[in-house]
Amino acid sequence: MSIRILVASLIGLLALIAIPASLLAAGDEAEKKTDPVSGMVIDEHWDLVRANCIVCHSTKGFTQIRLDRKNWEKIIRLMQEKNGLWPLGEMEPKILDYLEKNYGLTEEHHNPKIRRPLLD
Ligand code: HEC
Repeated sequence: MSIRILVASLIGLLALIAIPASLLAAGDEAEKKTDPVSGMVIDEHWDLVRANCIVCHSTKGFTQIRLDRKNWEKIIRLMQEKNGLWPLGEMEPKILDYLEKNYGLTEEHHNPKIRRPLLD
């Protein structure tokens, strides 16, 4: 086998490995689709959160912070006690599900040196 054929087939092999890898990466991106208007992650119950949480302010207040469920609940109470948010009723657990899942704490956020939860 000549060197040229060897090199060509190595390149071909690399392409075979690289292409599926980049397709997989693209798949991850697609999983976290965001709404172009609000910038919010599109996931289960995002429409509820959009309907209740961006009436008075933009999404910036919550899409740029990461909190656990307990502290998201505190935020909702704060919105209700100080800022005039209405009772959410049975929407509340769904809104918390969404916030916890998409704007919750991941393992890396549990390192207090990286980021302290805002409300603890
Ligand atoms: C009735 C109006 C209103 C609604 C509805 C509302 N907020 Fe707020 N929110 C405010 C006001 C007023 C502030 C304080 C001023 C600001 O940051 O714009 C605020 C601030 C915030 C902050 C920043 C708090 C901080 O201490 O920095 C977060 C986070 C937040 N809101 C999340 C939410 C979420 C989540 C919802 C939906 C469950 C929601 N808000 C619904 C009025 C509202």
